Amino acid sequence: MASPYNVLITGTSGFIGGSLLADLLSRTDGPIKNAKIFAAARSDEQVESVSKLGINVLQIDLMDEKSVLNAVLKNEIDIIVHTAGAILPQMATNLIKSLGERRRASGTETHYIHTSVATMFSEEGGWPYGQVKDSDDSILEKEKEIGEANPINVLVAELGKAEGVTTYNVPVPTVYGRGTGEWRKLSVNIPAITRASMKLKTVYKFEKDGHPPAIHISDLTALYAAILEKIILKETIPSGEKGYYFAMAHKSPWWEVMERLAQSMHARGLVSEPTAKVWPSYEVAAEHTGFPLIFIRAIGTSNGDLVPVNGPKIGWQPKWTEKMYLDSIDDEVQAVLDLDTVKMTLWDSL
Ligand SMILES: NC(=O)c1ccc[n+]([C@@H]2O[C@H](COP(=O)([O-])OP(=O)(O)OC[C@H]3O[C@@H](n4cnc5c(N)ncnc54)[C@H](OP(=O)(O)O)[C@@H]3O)[C@@H](O)[C@H]2O)c1
Repeated sequence: MASPYNVLITGTSGFIGGSLLADLLSRTDGPIKNAKIFAAARSDEQVESVSKLGINVLQIDLMDEKSVLNAVLKNEIDIIVHTAGAILPQMATNLIKSLGERRRASGTETHYIHTSVATMFSEEGGWPYGQVKDSDDSILEKEKEIGEANPINVLVAELGKAEGVTTYNVPVPTVYGRGTGEWRKLSVNIPAITRASMKLKTVYKFEKDGHPPAIHISDLTALYAAILEKIILKETIPSGEKGYYFAMAHKSPWWEVMERLAQSMHARGLVSEPTAKVWPSYEVAAEHTGFPLIFIRAIGTSNGDLVPVNGPKIGWQPKWTEKMYLDSIDDEVQAVLDLDTVKMTLWDSL
């Protein structure tokens, strides 16, 4: 049977996109097996690396409107899973508009799955409304009320509607675990704190504890795959302004995580004390972790009461629990020692 859908994954040299690509390509049956998968990457060496998987790798700068449009039209892309730039409106605009063009040119439906940032639904991230279910009908209206703080989610839903592209939004919290992609295999938060702790020979925590949501990378890729499967099967699932899928598996108790990190790193001789100390200031924390100062409170101390309803409704069941996460902190340290070979560029564009 001919492939019903051409699916483009962006950010495939990155942690999330690379792991998603590996997950999708590892499937030996199911609807995704019938889709043709394309990968987007930026540099020559990334393209060469991802190409080893034997799929079509498109070299695109996603900020370049024309390149994105050409790639989508030439390769007849019907679905895009965007993991390269959660908060950059230009990339989302280029991708959604291109899918709009593709829909008009082919007369076929097109779909866009956006990766966004779950921290936006915490008080520290600018969300004043407390608990939020992804199935709440009023999320987009509330995001509009917040205005400047949450522009990307509004853009995705509204531009998608204007372009006739069906959109889905996956707000992603702290992701942990080893990536399974070809290029960058490390996430952002725990590796950055581990690197800073190694440099300072001390694990630091923030003065205020936080319990933000978290997810193992394998549970996250399973959520994208669950959405993709429903699209490929042409089943109607929440989309557009109702198309939020909170990628939350459990909470991350920050102080407890930092204490486990201190124990693990001390046992390995990487820090001088087996307990965490308090950062002297947010500025010092930003300098040493590399997190932008404007986001550091949200990254370091946020809570956020997110309730995922839509993912479980379409059959997504995360496997990792808070206990499994805490028990895996030593593996997180080992992952940094084993895999910290590729420069982290995430914050460079901000
Ligand atoms: N990891 C987490 O815990 C987490 C949590 C919440 C949200 N997110 C968001 O999810 C997204 C992916 O996260 P990640 O951890 O996978 O980050 P990552 O490892 O840095 O991956 C991002 C990928 O996008 C690529 N990219 C960036 N700008 C591009 C451009 N203009 N054209 C083409 N490719 C471009 C990067 O390529 P280069 O290597 O060339 O820069 C990189 O391969 C990010 O936007 C992040 O903010 C991540």
